[in-house]
Amino acid sequence: MLRSTPMRLTLRLVALFVLISLLTFIATWWLANKTLLDAAEYTLDLELAELSASGDPATIAAAVARLALQADPETMILRYDGPDGVTGNLDQQVPGSGVREFDPRDRDDLSDRYIVNSREVSGGVLTVGQAADSFEELREVFGKVLGFTLLPTVVLVFAAGMLSARRSARRLGAIEETLDRLRSGDLSARLPAMPGPADDLSRVGAGIDKLAEAQEASTEALRQVSADIAHDLKTPIQRLSVQLAQTREALPEGTAPDALDRAEAEIEGIVSTFQSLLSIAQIEGGSPRLRFAPVDLAGIVRTMAELYEPSAEESDHRLRVDIGREANVMGDRALLGQIVTNLLENALRHTPRGCEVVLSLDGTRLSVADDGPGIPAAERGKVMRRLYRLDRSRSTPGSGLGLSLVEAIVKLHGGELSLHDNAPGLRVVIDLPELPET
Ligand SMILES: Nc1ncnc2c1ncn2[C@@H]1O[C@H](COP(=O)(O)OP(=O)(O)O)[C@@H](O)[C@H]1O
Ligand SMILES: [Mg+2]
Repeated sequence: MLRSTPMRLTLRLVALFVLISLLTFIATWWLANKTLLDAAEYTLDLELAELSASGDPATIAAAVARLALQADPETMILRYDGPDGVTGNLDQQVPGSGVREFDPRDRDDLSDRYIVNSREVSGGVLTVGQAADSFEELREVFGKVLGFTLLPTVVLVFAAGMLSARRSARRLGAIEETLDRLRSGDLSARLPAMPGPADDLSRVGAGIDKLAEAQEASTEALRQVSADIAHDLKTPIQRLSVQLAQTREALPEGTAPDALDRAEAEIEGIVSTFQSLLSIAQIEGGSPRLRFAPVDLAGIVRTMAELYEPSAEESDHRLRVDIGREANVMGDRALLGQIVTNLLENALRHTPRGCEVVLSLDGTRLSVADDGPGIPAAERGKVMRRLYRLDRSRSTPGSGLGLSLVEAIVKLHGGELSLHDNAPGLRVVIDLPELPET
């Protein structure tokens, strides 16, 4: 939160506001103080002038004594250090000269602080002071003003900043989530409607939506084209396959050339590649969802394990099945079976003899692990691509579409597929959404 842009702006604003307030406060305080001090100086000057008007020490002493009798020492202090001793209501020395502050030693009838002024008059020093109550009051008032305005304002601005930071954090969160979904291949992801007035973030959001829309459209177009090509080529290829079979039949038994065998094998591979491409396109189109029904995964896993037991034995692999909690998913039984088939076939085909293959199911988490050569981390994202195969697998039969098909089926079921290092080997983990018991 503290690192979000609105919060940073708020903190900066608060700091600026506090700085300006303090500067204003100091300037005003200084001015008010000076005005009061000037006024005090003026009054004190008048007083000094009046008392010393005669210029005669005895008269001055008499005037000071008279005034001291009338004056309340709590508001006014007087002292004349003359040739005949000290007169006035203040029995202590006042250090310094000119207009200044003076804190007298404790005496019950005195104030805490006075503004005093002294003047040298004939034969001595005359000092007059007035209580500095108004200065204390001024200080108090300023303290209150500062407390009453600065604190609530800082709190308010801070709260407003938090609110707008939370708001933009929510918007950013929605944007990030949408970007994540788009990145993981869900091109139908769009930003949820953002409440409140439009701002720069909602503009960015709208831009992302437009980009996703364009991306989705072009991906769809590409998918359509590849599906069309696969579809259009399927028939001639099948015809070719039939013609090869007819050619073989036309030849006398056992005289078919090797080239014919190779051509037939080649055609078979091509047909199955096209078949896979078409099924992927169909699955990605989402139409198999119409056939969805509750399926028990454990049943599929048991059937597949039985089915692959012989071929595992034949290729010298140990096949282990481990079924934990049993759960149902909403899906297509044949396609879910295809997932297990493809993963088991990979594990048997891409690992050397003697390896162990573990097919396990716990709830709706299905995994197939082997202790073969595995797939390097950098390649794990790529093997999901259509027709992609590791270099070392080029000589094995297959078309590089097995994992693409698995991924498409998992996505169709709203699940997640991930490849892990089984140290050694590969562990493919599939999480499907569980169908709640009814
Ligand atoms: N269990 C595995 N162990 C090692 N490599 C694997 C395994 N499964 C898949 N691969 C690698 O991933 C590639 C893609 O797999 P896949 O899409 O099923 O295509 P195919 O099996 O037709 O080659 C394979 O060619 C292989 O290199
Ligand atoms: Mg495969």
